[in-house]
Amino acid sequence: MYSDKVLDHFKNPRNVGEIKNADGIGSVGNPVCGDMMTMYIKVKDNHIEDIKFKTYGCGAAIATSSMTTELAKGKTLEEAMDITRQSVADALDGLPPVKMHCSNLAADALHEAIKNFKEKKEIKK
Ligand code: FES
Repeated sequence: MYSDKVLDHFKNPRNVGEIKNADGIGSVGNPVCGDMMTMYIKVKDNHIEDIKFKTYGCGAAIATSSMTTELAKGKTLEEAMDITRQSVADALDGLPPVKMHCSNLAADALHEAIKNFKEKKEIKK
């Protein structure tokens, strides 16, 4: 039912945790199941230098969070905004249809963290 990549990222999630003094933080909840996720980013020269996540959710949510952090690390903010639910699911060799809603959290939390970073920058100006 789950691809090897999903199982790998579920069992050994990458970039779990919190970044102290993060430049951007994004938190979202999944209205379908009530699970929650927070992404933390460090930004340098318009690139995502570091990224970590905390997920209170199912295995698919943890695997998609982990994959999202891997896809986003080192990318420009614009490239990271182009990471979608679908591209995360594709990078994991797909998710069972009933679990596709779980991939919403990761991409949305990433985008929220980038928006939060941009808002903070505006306020500083
Ligand atoms: Fe809630 Fe998967 S069941 S995110």
